[in-house]
Amino acid sequence: MRFHTRKWIKPQDLNPNGTLFGGRLLEWIDEEAALYAIIQLENPRTVTKFMSEIDFKSSAREGDIVEIGTDVVKFGKASLTLKCEVRNKMTREVIITIEKIVMVSLDEEGKARPHGKTKIEYVKDRLED
Ligand SMILES: CC(C)(COP(=O)(O)OP(=O)(O)OC[C@H]1O[C@@H](n2cnc3c(N)ncnc32)[C@H](O)[C@@H]1OP(=O)(O)O)[C@@H](O)C(=O)NCCC(=O)NCCS
Repeated sequence: MRFHTRKWIKPQDLNPNGTLFGGRLLEWIDEEAALYAIIQLENPRTVTKFMSEIDFKSSAREGDIVEIGTDVVKFGKASLTLKCEVRNKMTREVIITIEKIVMVSLDEEGKARPHGKTKIEYVKDRLED
């Protein structure tokens, strides 16, 4: 699992309990998954199709730094299945895990389009080609 993105918990990210609002965290995760899939599949028309059960294991407070990790579970035909973990950057305590996020590559008409990818590629290697 690679942790690409860090977030700082600010007042506008809190729920009335004074801890990180779950909807904000899901927004960050969805954006992270979308960016990851768009970069891997080289198609900006890539959308979220499915997210498995979400399990908030712990929370975060104002001022905490969290990091969002993503890993590939499977390259499908038009899909890319990811998993995700968010943890506290300093304590490494896990805040949430999502075992399955399915992203789908689309064509101009919004229909599933095979992406032809089978493994993780790094942009630096693409630039060397
Ligand atoms: C994404 C979308 C085009 C897929 O349409 P579809 O008719 O299910 O297409 P397909 O049956 O060809 O499936 C495409 C891929 O998604 C996968 N898939 C479809 N439904 C799935 C589900 N419920 N769970 C997991 N994977 C699923 C299929 O297995 C397939 O994978 P593969 O191509 O790697 O084999 C369509 O559902 C859609 O437009 N949804 C809205 C997406 C969106 O707007 N998301 C933004 C958030 S609101």
